[in-house]
Amino acid sequence: MARILITRRLASRAPERLTAAGHEVVVHDGPAASAGKLRALVDGVEGVLTTVADRVDPALLDAAPGLRVVSNYAVGCDNVDLAACAARGVAVGITPDVLTEATADLAFALLLAAARHVPAADRAVRDGRWTSWEPAGWLGRDVHGATLVIVGAGRIGEAVARRAEGFSMDVVRVGRRDDLLAALAAADFVSLHAPLLPATRHLIGAAALAAIKPGAILVNTARGGLVDQVALTQALADGRLAAAGLDVTDPEPLPADDPLLQAPNLVVLPHIGSATQGARERMAQLAVDNLLAGLAGEPLPNPAPALAPAS
Ligand code: DGY
Repeated sequence: MARILITRRLASRAPERLTAAGHEVVVHDGPAASAGKLRALVDGVEGVLTTVADRVDPALLDAAPGLRVVSNYAVGCDNVDLAACAARGVAVGITPDVLTEATADLAFALLLAAARHVPAADRAVRDGRWTSWEPAGWLGRDVHGATLVIVGAGRIGEAVARRAEGFSMDVVRVGRRDDLLAALAAADFVSLHAPLLPATRHLIGAAALAAIKPGAILVNTARGGLVDQVALTQALADGRLAAAGLDVTDPEPLPADDPLLQAPNLVVLPHIGSATQGARERMAQLAVDNLLAGLAGEPLPNPAPALAPAS
């Protein structure tokens, strides 16, 4: 029997499988714990279920010398220091595939919302600013027939590509070895789906935004750190970008007084890409599968990329 910490209450009964297997489960209720609180909470645990809001760093690992499994309730794992975990023999699991379609749906929702001023037009109606039908007002961008550049064409990028093809868009996929700046020069829309790594931090910075086709629209449902937000704020303010739709920011949560929020034509959401009942339930089940396997001394069914066997 092991002691397991779940750092947030999940909307799922999947953790009951841990108690049924004889483990002791402690759930931290309330908002995400501070780093200091998390260090206190992991005292004596062998397994921990973390979210993207928790940092698993050497200080946390030092506070949990008996830790054997980190089960990250996410497909991304940039919040986990994988090298530090590997050095201590701590297995790290993630929840791939099960949130692909939900996240792609949200990317497309942001693309459409940004292209057609959906949130701003909704606010205008509520504020009593709908005075007549406007022949020259609220003019957005055509989505059909436009070129969509998908940066990082993994599972979620491909799922967005499928949706775009249904809208008769021309899809251009940009991988690690492709010429990003050349692709951006032809883009009407850009959707980001790359992992956040040292090499991809601020991938969309001043140089990329200078190369992008004037009037393009940027969508980010991956990680906030992919975008240099100072450069993005400027590109929105000077009209280089027509709009942006963000589900992720840096930091998260984005403070209400962050200058980015003053930028025009910005749609911003609180990191809800995987937030459907179905996706979150499937994520909970995979996260529990990883804990059960790791605590039984078995390979994790869904290990973090660095731990996956080389193919
Ligand atoms: C992930 O899975 O990486 C998302 O960002 C959170 O669901």
